[in-house]
This record gives sequence, structure tokens and C-alpha cells, in this order.
Amino acid sequence: MRVAVTGGSGFCGGYVARAVDRCGAGLVCLGRRPGPAGRHVRWDAATDVPDLDGADLVIHLAAAVGDPGPGKREEQRFRAVNVDGTKRLLDAAGGRPVVWVSSGSVYRTKSGTVTEDAPVADQRTAYGRTKAAGERLALEAGAVVLRPRAVYGHGDPHLLPRLRRAVRRGVIRLPGPDVLLSLTAVENLADACLRAGDWPAGAYNIADAHPYPRNEVVALVLPGVRIRQVPIAAALAAAVLVPGLEITRYAVEQLAYGLVLDIGRARAQGWAPERVLGDFLGDAEPVR
Ligand SMILES: NC(=O)c1ccc[n+]([C@@H]2O[C@H](COP(=O)([O-])OP(=O)(O)OC[C@H]3O[C@@H](n4cnc5c(N)ncnc54)[C@H](OP(=O)(O)O)[C@@H]3O)[C@@H](O)[C@H]2O)c1
Repeated sequence: MRVAVTGGSGFCGGYVARAVDRCGAGLVCLGRRPGPAGRHVRWDAATDVPDLDGADLVIHLAAAVGDPGPGKREEQRFRAVNVDGTKRLLDAAGGRPVVWVSSGSVYRTKSGTVTEDAPVADQRTAYGRTKAAGERLALEAGAVVLRPRAVYGHGDPHLLPRLRRAVRRGVIRLPGPDVLLSLTAVENLADACLRAGDWPAGAYNIADAHPYPRNEVVALVLPGVRIRQVPIAAALAAAVLVPGLEITRYAVEQLAYGLVLDIGRARAQGWAPERVLGDFLGDAEPVR
């Protein structure tokens, strides 16, 4: 079995590449930078056709990730990778199975429990819009699309660092009352990526077995930091008034409205997420 992984130089893709390597499968990491293992094949998703020669399975995680300010230029930058890059990848894959990693941010629903049949629309950022457009292409091409949410783990460059930067004088302001939300351990996502190659085509939510109370998570990952709850409207106004703030309007919404992913469809394929937040917090040293 030879597996091509994109995004191997990144956080989630690095875990996937190492997991493929541990299985003893042949590994090729396609990207601008090498992955943590396997052979490197250079690929800039924004411009190039990927060389998938010899691959039996493609796991696609490369993406423009983040929460940029509005504007045509940023939208185009995200589109070049997440939509046009996806199109080039799917064309090159031909009939090979493709696991395409999407995101829970494609859902229109902001709160409550969502199944994969919930509407995918009205994304509020360039990231969400271009991930939704990319996954539409992937679904049309018969790929397996995974939708994780808020991926955490050692080496996470997005979630925890952003929360840490939002702490001011030992206090973090959280919008609205406590909510339940889904998080995805990066190890659970990597495990799903490896197993999903032979799942029926379609979309699958991927998250830890149970949702977590937001305030408890923040208290656990930011020990010693005091939590102050502020009205959602005030937090949204602050995000608009202070551009460049770590807690952007989108981030406020992510924290204010608890979104829970129903993972029944992935479970029905025999997948069971084993890792929980407590495992991550209890690791004496980074586990990869
Ligand atoms: N982290 C989360 O909370 C989360 C939640 C839901 C879904 N996801 C999805 O998980 C996937 C991985 O995200 P991540 O958190 O691991 O992000 P990350 O650490 O920022 O990694 C992004 C990866 O994409 C690659 N990439 C970006 N632009 C590229 C380009 N033009 N050509 C080739 N490769 C390019 C980067 O490689 P180089 O910069 O080295 O080229 C890097 O390997 C993404 O598809 C993301 O949408 C993540």
C-alpha cells in the first residue's frame, strides 16, 4: 500500500504522515515543505498539478488555514489552495480513493447538534467558504470527506496559541454563558484518515466521543487564568472595533455558540474515537 499525504508539514498532516509511516505503508508527502517522514514530492497547491504516481490512496490535508480579514485578495489566496488546488488534486487522483479533510466550519448551523445532512452554507470567513467549495468538488468526485472541529494536540499552531494570546492580565473574556462543544483530538483525526480510505463516499463528522463544556476546557488548558463571561453582543462589537484582535468575530461565534458534531455515521463504519482531552493534558511529554 502506498499513501500520498498532503499537508504533512503541518499540524494534522504531520500526525497523519507519522501514523501512515508507523503502519509500514509506503509514504509520499506532497507539499512545499517535506513532511516528518517518507519521500518528499514538491507541490504548491496554489499553482501545480500534483504528482501522485504510484499512490494507492490520497489523504488530502493541505489547506490555507486561518481567519484572515475580509477582502478580495485574501479570498483569492484561500481559493487558490482550497478550491483550485483541490480541483488539480482530484483530477490527478483519477480513480484513486481520496480522503479529503474538510472542517465543521462549513455548516450553516452555529449551535446545537449537527449531522452530516445539515445545510452547508453561509460560511462567515474565506476559510469556511473555500473549504465548503473544495469539499463540494471532492464529494462530486466520490471522495470521503471528513469534517473535524477544533483539532487539538501537541504542536497545534492555531487553537491553543490563539486562546493564550487572548489572555489579558490573567483574564480571558468568554462570550455568553457556558456551552457544550465538540473538539477533535488530532490522534482521533489521524486514525479516521487512515481508516476512511475504504468507507463509502460522502461526508463524515469526526470528533471526540463526547462534547466538552467550554468553560471547563478553557480552565483546564489555561490553568491559573480567570474566566470572565461577557455578553455575546459586546464580544462581537469588540471584535469589530478592534481589528487585529486575537479573538476575531468568527472566533467569538465559535466560542459563543456550542456546535456539537454527531459522529454516528463514522461510528457506523466501525470507527471509535479513543483519545480525550484528559489524555492530552496528562501527557508527560508530547506524543506523536
Ligand atoms: N486545526 C484545526 O482545528 C482544524 C479544524 C478543522 C479542519 N482542519 C483541517 O485540517 C487540515 C490541516 O490543518 P492544520 O491545522 O494541520 O493546519 P496547518 O498546520 O496550518 O497545516 C496546513 C498545511 O497545508 C499546507 N499548505 C498550505 N498552503 C499550501 C500550498 N500552497 N501548497 C501546498 N501545501 C500547502 C502547509 O504546508 P506548507 O506551508 O509547508 O507548504 C501545511 O502542511 C486542513 O485541511 C484544515 O482545513 C483543521
